[in-house]
Amino acid sequence: MALTMNPRCIAQWLQHAQENRYAIGAFNANTLEQIQAIVWAAEIEKSPAILQVSHNALLYLGNGKSVLGLRYFHCMAKTAAGSVSMPVFVHLDHGTYHEVLWAIGLGYNSVMFDGSDLPFDENIRQTHALSRIAHSAGVLIEAELGEVPKPGGTANEEEGALTDPYQAKDFIEQTRVDSLAISIGSIHGGKKKLVRLDLALLRKIRDQVDVPLVLHGSSGVVDADLKKSIDYGISKVNTATQSNLAFSDAVMAYLHENPDVVDPRKYLVPARDEMSKAVSDRMKLLGSTGRAQA
Ligand code: G3H
Ligand code: ZN
Repeated sequence: MALTMNPRCIAQWLQHAQENRYAIGAFNANTLEQIQAIVWAAEIEKSPAILQVSHNALLYLGNGKSVLGLRYFHCMAKTAAGSVSMPVFVHLDHGTYHEVLWAIGLGYNSVMFDGSDLPFDENIRQTHALSRIAHSAGVLIEAELGEVPKPGGTANEEEGALTDPYQAKDFIEQTRVDSLAISIGSIHGGKKKLVRLDLALLRKIRDQVDVPLVLHGSSGVVDADLKKSIDYGISKVNTATQSNLAFSDAVMAYLHENPDVVDPRKYLVPARDEMSKAVSDRMKLLGSTGRAQA
């Protein structure tokens, strides 16, 4: 860790990752056990980490009310982050306009506004308004340009759209966001690592913008492309499906072996442990292991 770094400042960590060619893992969590799995991995790997909650996870946690979900997640994630000695940040992932405002008010370290489905000018208008508010509160803001496909979403979301490098430059200049999620071939929700990235497009985008770049939908990307994308300028990598798989496979294996067990702790313990190992493996792949060592 560089001596001048404030370990509690996510913007500095993303900058550090960008300068030193590694990526910080942002891991989605839906339950307390998943949050614990992530912070435990950060501690073992001596790695910075981002705990993130998506729009759908907020609805799950808040039983349909995303503001309640934001409160639950913030309390659990802050407690977990404070229980380890590594820099662990709390982030809203794929937030709506109002969720972003609430998350800023609740003290999230960083927020992502997902205006990727909006027309370009409207995405700029809404992102810029939120960017001003986030910055006045000292909160980092990420936005998305182009659209990483979301299977199971609307027709537009299913199809997605690659990021245009020149639009990306314009977008950053007009919105002043701190980091940018780009669409370079990845797809949300991949269970098998089969997806190849458009690395030439990534290089063109990197030539046009200098903010940290974010890769969504990383679970289905082949490891070699993921590593190259970090060399070419990706500084934050979002992972959900890979770690959910580890968690769910462990629950299924346990209940298959022990069909009479009714105490949830019995199957949640191996699920938490297996997910923690999967997150550790991911941190090694992203090159963040050892980066938070004093
Ligand atoms: O925002 C979350 C991610 O983009 C997760 O994508 O489920 O493909 O890892 P994934
Ligand atoms: Zn995403």
